[in-house]
Amino acid sequence: MSVRTIKLLGDDVLRAECEPVETVDDEVRRLADDLQETMYEADGIGLAAPQVGVELRMFAYDVRDPEAPAGVIINPEIVEQSDETEKEPEGCLSIPGIREVVERPTRVVMEGTDPHGREVRLEADGLLARCLQHEYDHLDGVLFLDRISAFKRKMALDKWSKMSEEERRSAAGAL
Ligand code: NI
Repeated sequence: MSVRTIKLLGDDVLRAECEPVETVDDEVRRLADDLQETMYEADGIGLAAPQVGVELRMFAYDVRDPEAPAGVIINPEIVEQSDETEKEPEGCLSIPGIREVVERPTRVVMEGTDPHGREVRLEADGLLARCLQHEYDHLDGVLFLDRISAFKRKMALDKWSKMSEEERRSAAGAL
């Protein structure tokens, strides 16, 4: 396993439409391990493959709740989502130092496979539901800043553009 470099806002890979994983092989399992190691090293609760420069549909998640599942999901699909939404602050390991309130469905059901090729079904609410939706967005090249108002996005991007590399690297991200 190894810690990979997390790509930051401005890197084109974060805007890529990622490809489905065709075969869950050793290379995919190595990526799964690296996503988890990189996520934990960065103290994040989720990390998607494009965030380490790989355009594949898979991500790691762990909201640090003993009651909640954690792991890596491959080729995830959102099969259900609640009409009810909630607004909570979010960050992103690729945009460290920026946090904004994002409105998302409160509950989702996500299906995919794990790194051993087993089917996974996640029925999530609260922080896990938010994490899964945030990471799923990454696979379509969508960032949480795309889900806030144009005004707030401009403010956030202005703040981001004024931050030094060191400030960004030392700021806590989350997802
Ligand atoms: Ni993120």
